[in-house]
Amino acid sequence: MNSFFSEDNWINWVDALSENHYVVIDNILPTEVLHDLKSSFDERVQEEQLRKAAIGTLNQKHVDRSIRGDEILWLDQNIADRRIRTFFDLADEIKQNLNRYCYLSLSGYEFHFAHYPVGTFYKRHLDQFQGRNNRLISMILYLNEDWKPEYGGQLHLFLEDGREETILPTFGRMVMFKSDVLEHEVMLTAHDRYSITGWMLYQPVGLGFLEAAPVH
Ligand code: OGA
Ligand code: NI
Repeated sequence: MNSFFSEDNWINWVDALSENHYVVIDNILPTEVLHDLKSSFDERVQEEQLRKAAIGTLNQKHVDRSIRGDEILWLDQNIADRRIRTFFDLADEIKQNLNRYCYLSLSGYEFHFAHYPVGTFYKRHLDQFQGRNNRLISMILYLNEDWKPEYGGQLHLFLEDGREETILPTFGRMVMFKSDVLEHEVMLTAHDRYSITGWMLYQPVGLGFLEAAPVH
């Protein structure tokens, strides 16, 4: 398999991730691949395959629109849709490079399509929580063409030194951050907001239906 990016690129990004706990990469995939992903996503939205995302732990899972308002569909790597295959090739390359340069023991990943309808958000939270700590790196790929700042829907990262970072969910932008360290929030969106969101896992335990609990 050909590499998407050079070793130098990966070393720079992994350094940034280690140092700042997050990294933002624009144009992570060619435009036609992004369009393919979005068309696959659009089809599933039309077929009403997405479900309201839940919060909570293994035994207490519930939908709470005052905490998170997105609807999701977990992706199965083995489905025949060639439009999402390139994304998984990229995920493999990311996993390999994080293992190589970050000395992580990542053994798997999980991803879902996420759609935030107009008027939704996801309150400040951590992607790791009690009973579910195998998520090491959070990864989000945004699929919103012509996103404008006035639409809102920013990803807000609460950095450890008290600073905050605000990231617009623009087409082809990928954000990676440490799941156990960075609290974050999705701001109210005034426009339909689409992404592929997922996690690099320490152990694939098949508990992908569990969602992060909010921090209080
Ligand atoms: C999440 C999440 C951020 C985003 O799904 O846990 O925080 O920008 N998503 O969509
Ligand atoms: Ni999150």
